[in-house]
Amino acid sequence: MRRLLVRDLAQVASPGGGTAPLRGRALADLEVVEDAYVLCAGDRIEAVGRMRDLGPLPDDVAELDGRGLSAVPGLVDCHTHACFAGDRVEEFALRAGGASYEELHAAGGGIFATVRATRAAGEEGLRTAVRRHRAWMLRSGTTTWEAKSGYGLDRETELAQLRVIRSEAGVPTWLGAHAVPPEHPDADAYLDFALEEVLPEAASLAVAADVFLERGAFDAAQARRFLVACQRAGLALRLHGDQFTESGAIPLAVELGARSVDHLEATGPAGVAALARSDVAGVLLPASALFLDRPMPPARALVDAGAAIALATDFNPGSAFTESMPLVLCLAATQLHLSPAEALSAATVNAAHVLGCADDVGRLARGYAADVVLVDAPDWRHLAYHLAGDVVRIVIRGGTVAWSRAAY
Ligand code: NIG
Ligand code: FE
Repeated sequence: MRRLLVRDLAQVASPGGGTAPLRGRALADLEVVEDAYVLCAGDRIEAVGRMRDLGPLPDDVAELDGRGLSAVPGLVDCHTHACFAGDRVEEFALRAGGASYEELHAAGGGIFATVRATRAAGEEGLRTAVRRHRAWMLRSGTTTWEAKSGYGLDRETELAQLRVIRSEAGVPTWLGAHAVPPEHPDADAYLDFALEEVLPEAASLAVAADVFLERGAFDAAQARRFLVACQRAGLALRLHGDQFTESGAIPLAVELGARSVDHLEATGPAGVAALARSDVAGVLLPASALFLDRPMPPARALVDAGAAIALATDFNPGSAFTESMPLVLCLAATQLHLSPAEALSAATVNAAHVLGCADDVGRLARGYAADVVLVDAPDWRHLAYHLAGDVVRIVIRGGTVAWSRAAY
């Protein structure tokens, strides 16, 4: 079997324990090994330990010099909209001049601008875009990524989005209720169409369903109807909730046993308490709050109350044009007041939990996927500390070097 030894690493840092999700104090419980190695066998991790405990290995083991570097698990981006065509740079400039995201959406721009570009791109155009975005994510250290549909909102394009995400090894989520496209008179009529015409095939392509529960998108009753039908079809449930207003996303998520509610910038104390009592994860997207100049979600309160939280980019052309999980980790430390250790757990093992793959990815431990990020510093916390820096040096995915930055 092909083996790869990463040797002489200054540090290896990985979320502790063997369970997921990590909550409360356990979120900060990292195992940090100094002067360490990671041994990969095939696409799995065979061992992690101290150099001085490394026994003799056969000659055919490939070696990577880890001197001056540190290692963390491959990052897991559990919330992206990476399957889109076109851009929204015009809208970005308008927002800089004072236009609001919600106004632009209400005027037929925003999400609808991307829907027009995505419908026009065709399946091969979308594949080209996703490959490009996936390469951006990889060089930022993301080895597992989710991506949503939701920019087609017609049968053909929604299914094309899901097929492309799947075939490019993303984790596909059917965001069948993202916005009401102009060919339908209202949200209920659109849902009639989506549930009858798209859900049966979407359910065989996606692992989860998602809805934008917000004023100007879908209300709680419409979201319930959509999610219940998706759950019956075998999909896990996610919600975009409490982004601008508290419109009932958390109670609905708890009632239906959803995997996550994502955004939470508008969540108040009752929502924090309800989430903490539940098994629903809160996915925090600080890059989106920053990009839209919105309040940050109550991350500290959520962790202290015992809620399961994860971090993600929300990568999309409108509200968060970034693929960088290291940037998200920096925002987690500076804006959400999470420690770097809490942020790393939220961006690895807990994010994997949201995607239903925490047994496979998110930890550097024997038996897990050999997905490893080598950070260009002897202390792994530079991953969060170096604001928008070139901090990822080498990315190993499935036991092979998938990307590396030239040494300076
Ligand atoms: O998570 N809020 C709804 N959906 C996305 C943004 C989509 C877009 O603006 O294109 C979000 O922020
Ligand atoms: Fe989103």
